[in-house]
Amino acid sequence: MIKVAPSILSADFCKMAEAMDSLNAWGADIVHCDVMDGVYVPNITFGMPMIKDLRKYTKLPLDAHLMITKPEKYVGKFCEAGADIVTFHPEASDDVIGALDEIKMHGKKCGLAINADIGFEVALPYLSRIDLLVIMTVQAGFGGQSFMEDCLEKARMASEFRKKTGSVFEIEVDGGVCPANIQKVKQAGADIAVAGSAVFKAADPHSAVMSMQI
Ligand code: DX5
Ligand code: ZN
Repeated sequence: MIKVAPSILSADFCKMAEAMDSLNAWGADIVHCDVMDGVYVPNITFGMPMIKDLRKYTKLPLDAHLMITKPEKYVGKFCEAGADIVTFHPEASDDVIGALDEIKMHGKKCGLAINADIGFEVALPYLSRIDLLVIMTVQAGFGGQSFMEDCLEKARMASEFRKKTGSVFEIEVDGGVCPANIQKVKQAGADIAVAGSAVFKAADPHSAVMSMQI
């Protein structure tokens, strides 16, 4: 069954403790935390202190998606703050392997995120080292954008690569995912679906989460 990781980017930032309780009640599998620095992407969200505080309010795994420049400077701090999974964008880093190794040294899961305008081949040299590959189906930076179906081709390529090589990384699809396209996301090989607005803006978020756990 596909795991659902609601993105708190679409939650009320003044009610995060309540959001953690809600996600638990709605049966979410993972909490997706979108960290943006205003440099790698044209938007700013939150950093390590948010992860540290969220950690106090939920037992669900925290998935920190770092949309920041030079992530190698910060990945250790996100691990120490309580993230269980830390992913970053390879083209934003001067030391991809160093950053992945540092996350592993902290005993956490490491991953790479492939932005909508970045080719799958950028991830190829690292696929044997990662626990998670995030395939973005929007251009990173904002919640609530339209799903770019063409990007699913990269999830299919990752899924094929995994079968051929016996690699064990999970595939997460992030951006514009909703109950209407979850079938395609699953068919492309996704193990985890990130959904921000499709959960937090839904009339019935509990049903929205359940309808994507297919
Ligand atoms: C985009 C973020 C996504 C996004 C998901 O930069 O990485 O996680 O917020 O939100 P929706 O599901 O609304 O696209
Ligand atoms: Zn994200």
